[in-house]
Amino acid sequence: MDQGNYSRVAEFVLLGLCSSWKLQYFFFVLFNFLYIAIVLGNLLIVLTVISEPALHTPMYIMLGNLSVLDVFLATYATPKMIHDFLYEPKTISFEGCMAQIFLLHVFAGGEMVLLVAMAYDRYVAICKPLHYTTIMNLYKCTGLVVGSWVIGIMHSLSQLAFTINLPFCGPNIVDSYYCDLTLVIKLACTDTYVPELLMLLDSGLMGVTSFLLLLISYTVILITVQHHSSVGRAKARSILTAHVTVVTLFFGPCIFIYAWPFSNFPVDKVLSVFSTVFTPILNPIIYTLRNKEVKSAMHKLKTRYVIISNLVPVVKTILIVFLFSHI
Ligand SMILES: *[C@@H]1O[C@H](CO)[C@@H](O)[C@H](O)[C@H]1NC(C)=O
Repeated sequence: MDQGNYSRVAEFVLLGLCSSWKLQYFFFVLFNFLYIAIVLGNLLIVLTVISEPALHTPMYIMLGNLSVLDVFLATYATPKMIHDFLYEPKTISFEGCMAQIFLLHVFAGGEMVLLVAMAYDRYVAICKPLHYTTIMNLYKCTGLVVGSWVIGIMHSLSQLAFTINLPFCGPNIVDSYYCDLTLVIKLACTDTYVPELLMLLDSGLMGVTSFLLLLISYTVILITVQHHSSVGRAKARSILTAHVTVVTLFFGPCIFIYAWPFSNFPVDKVLSVFSTVFTPILNPIIYTLRNKEVKSAMHKLKTRYVIISNLVPVVKTILIVFLFSHI
């Protein structure tokens, strides 16, 4: 193929999550609810963390930032997927596709680094409790938060750098509900072996490094906790269970999608839903609603801003009207 002389595709066709119309109606309703729950749940956490001075500690500030990332992670593709359940053809412009790839890697990369930072914070708190305030302070915490965004953006730019210049000249069908880089890269009219290898190394480096760091900090915490009192052990266990659940749900699908990039598994898109819909919805539940401090802060918030409790029925009404106007 002459690389200097081709006309680039203007848009990509997304095949969506499934093809059955009945299932698509069902998913439309389901994902509408999930998406609204993600946004409301995570915004509630952000609001709670910001408005309660007792929660202005590294752990909760990082939790607040994780919620912000979760909202973004749930927003780069899910609303378009929800919209696409009801419309044909499901297309996305070339620029929109590149934007989705860029955003996914910024948010997912950022979330990976932030999860590592949160695990490090817990490692210091549990394994070096006497030095916690000298090792972790708000200044360092800001550094970790900013660092996770910077690493996410750098990772994403490096992925996009070799993707955007590939010759996309013909086939434009992506068997997913979003522009999944592992699928899009295969559409280039050139030998994609090297780009696929680069993509695998780039995402692999990011994922494997974070995953190993998480594994190491959890292992050290588990070993340290063996010498603690049974109360301390129980507390550490519950923190660890929360972290490990989120990390498994988030990394599991990523590892599966990137570990076999050269063969086309149809389960990829189903697994993507886990990283972009179920992890963001589980974070508030797992990290927050089981946590006494956050619960009591939310209670204060509720009495202070009664408006929030009035907002829920309003949102429900809007949602129901919206659903019925579409079906
Ligand atoms: C996110 O992190 C920054 C920097 O540490 C902090 O100022 C901000 O309050 C955090 N946001 C939330 C919602 O917790």
